[in-house]
Amino acid sequence: MKLLNTNIKIILLIIIEINLIISVASALKHKSHYNQRPIIGILTQQLSHHLKQVYPDLKYKSYIAASYVKFIESAGARVVPIWTGRNKSYYNKILNKINGVIFPGGSAFFNETNGYADAGIHIYNIAKEMNKQNDFFPIMGICLGFELLTYAASGAKDHRIRCSSHNQLLSLKFEPGFEKSKLFCDASSDIIDILRDEDVTINFHRYCVTKKATRKNNHSFPSTRDEENHLIYNYPTYYTGPTNSSFEQCYLFEK
Ligand SMILES: *[C@@H]1O[C@H](CO)[C@@H](O)[C@H](O)[C@H]1NC(C)=O
Ligand SMILES: *[C@@H]1O[C@H](CO)[C@@H](O)[C@H](O)[C@H]1NC(C)=O
Ligand SMILES: *[C@@H]1O[C@H](CO)[C@@H](O)[C@H](O)[C@H]1NC(C)=O
Ligand SMILES: *[C@@H]1O[C@H](CO)[C@@H](O)[C@H](O)[C@H]1NC(C)=O
Repeated sequence: MKLLNTNIKIILLIIIEINLIISVASALKHKSHYNQRPIIGILTQQLSHHLKQVYPDLKYKSYIAASYVKFIESAGARVVPIWTGRNKSYYNKILNKINGVIFPGGSAFFNETNGYADAGIHIYNIAKEMNKQNDFFPIMGICLGFELLTYAASGAKDHRIRCSSHNQLLSLKFEPGFEKSKLFCDASSDIIDILRDEDVTINFHRYCVTKKATRKNNHSFPSTRDEENHLIYNYPTYYTGPTNSSFEQCYLFEK
């Protein structure tokens, strides 16, 4: 009986070793096309009035300006588009597979049913819940996206006012404590001096809100295949150059 047990143990050990060898081999095989770069979701938005004129072809409904994709990719991360007009379970699922979200700038209205703002509120609430449970999940809002963050944070109250700051160069007025903020804590004093003393920021705003890092979670797609199916590479980009601004590219979506 003892001998039998030992034999079984040896057989088990051999099986375990073979399994280890197979999994190491398969990890090595996949190494060439798998990496640990974070994946960032970018929220799509309805085509702007302007883009609708440039692309009168009605099958396009939403877009991401490719500059957002480029700067995420320039920083070494990858991008998946996040659709508007879906239910909370879609946003929940996608946020649990990615490492952060960007709300891009643009000109979408917040009052469109199932539009940019409704999607933003779902994402904001889910991210807030994740952070509350110590699961670090960042959202970055730029321009309209930053307005969307303030809109979501205030419980869907639009507290923006109309303002006109079009093609305007301005310096920054720093608030007390800015040097402890995430954005400026590592900025050198000469950069701060330039931002404070020189008109180096470009502004294009129709609305204003007046005065009143590294990867920190381990979310991932369950498989490289699932990841590949979601990545932005599945969609072609179009240069807007021939009909409009040069340099800029757009992803145009039929959904
Ligand atoms: C959310 O939408 C998906 C399809 O996009 C559907 O399968 C699912 O049942 C919906 N969930 C809820 C809670 O409505
Ligand atoms: C949404 O807001 C815009 C700008 O304030 C307005 O022009 C438009 O009529 C509104 N649309 C709806 C459906 O309320
Ligand atoms: C992510 O995974 C790495 C390696 O498994 C681990 O060291 C790290 O603590 C994890 N981070 C979080 C936030 O869970
Ligand atoms: C291109 O965009 C500018 C504004 O940026 C606009 O004035 C112009 O009419 C556009 N051209 C076309 C062909 O849509």
